[in-house]
Amino acid sequence: MKHIYLDYNATSPVRPEVLEAMLPFYREQFGNPSSVHWAGRQVGGALEKAREQVAAFINASPAEIVFVSCGSEGDNMAIKGSLGALKEKGNHIITTTVEHPAVLETCQALEKEGFDVTYLPVDKDGQLNLDDMEKAITEKTVLISVMWANNETGNIYPIEEIGAIARKYNIRFHTDAVQAVGKVPVDVQKAKVDLLVISGHKLGAPKGVGAIYVRRGTRMTPLLHGGHQERNRRAGTQNMAGIVGLGLACEMAGAEQESYYHRVRALRDKLEDGVVALVPDIKLNGTPNRDQRLPNTLNVSFAYIEGESLLLNLDMYGIAASSGSACTSGSLEPSHVMGAMCVEVTLAHSSTRFSLGPETVPAEIDKVLEVLPATVQRLRDMSPLYNCGRTSDNCETCQTIKRI
Ligand SMILES: Cc1ncc(COP(=O)(O)O)c(C=O)c1O
Repeated sequence: MKHIYLDYNATSPVRPEVLEAMLPFYREQFGNPSSVHWAGRQVGGALEKAREQVAAFINASPAEIVFVSCGSEGDNMAIKGSLGALKEKGNHIITTTVEHPAVLETCQALEKEGFDVTYLPVDKDGQLNLDDMEKAITEKTVLISVMWANNETGNIYPIEEIGAIARKYNIRFHTDAVQAVGKVPVDVQKAKVDLLVISGHKLGAPKGVGAIYVRRGTRMTPLLHGGHQERNRRAGTQNMAGIVGLGLACEMAGAEQESYYHRVRALRDKLEDGVVALVPDIKLNGTPNRDQRLPNTLNVSFAYIEGESLLLNLDMYGIAASSGSACTSGSLEPSHVMGAMCVEVTLAHSSTRFSLGPETVPAEIDKVLEVLPATVQRLRDMSPLYNCGRTSDNCETCQTIKRI
């Protein structure tokens, strides 16, 4: 059976060129970049080249790039490191209800330590109201943290406008750009961000490596204590192979950005149009404006069925998609993002994410459109919700379906 992978927002395969570039750092180029001898010097150059590649990709200076182990570490470092450095100034953070757990749970942990957090709501399409943000600012606000793009819906947030608000009030601005980099242009100068987080495994580099952009002059307390690597900003011997892979993946994504956008967007639009045309009683989750969504992401709820059973049934055809985010699947709770958008609970349970990548080809989309309508119908035929007649005035699901 041919496998069709449509879960690129969970992770992506390492690009062959990236793997090739990494291999010497597991073999002959094994040195520690902090060592002064030949073995260290041999890899030190590669470390700085990767820093330049990552910096160029987001329009930063190499000195503003700190390598970390993953996106979650970057988000923790941005938030905790900022609050540690700014505690004399204030203790209030503004974030949103739709952030990744790497941000949300960090904020929740900080609340337990006495910090104040405002979680901005979103509307039914997952959009933020920036007036709410300005109203939430107090003289104690030291950090605004808003993701560049949402991992579940693909919604892209107005980062430049948020950056302008943060500048106006002299508040530090962090963005989790883990899902955005490689999919849409990311420019830290235009966006006026102070801290921006990247994760390697979402853009064709391996798992276990990431980077954080720290604007020059941004004071941070370190998350990890120990060695003096990364100009004292992140202790621990660098993951050289991963970093070299991340550098090349960024360079390749930068070179292919435009062609990737148009190609993947055409395929996603074809999938979206096909699902809308072929499957009744569905709800698209996220903004209906496709320009304001990542070009690769489609999130759709199929009324009357469970997302998990749909995933298992698609898996039987070799099709990999996702319900909720990979980190939360396995839990019976509907996703917090669907909850924040007030998606009715049975529709939230049936929400399914298809996320395409540079390797996705048209025949794969054709196959999904061939298999999906019949699979959904088969599951509906077995569903007590579907067979209830869809007319009951006392049934919340019936009423919701009438409305979509
Ligand atoms: C928006 C977002 N932020 C952060 C992360 C965490 O990244 P990592 O898996 O590298 O820790 C993810 C991973 O899914 C994500 O989608």
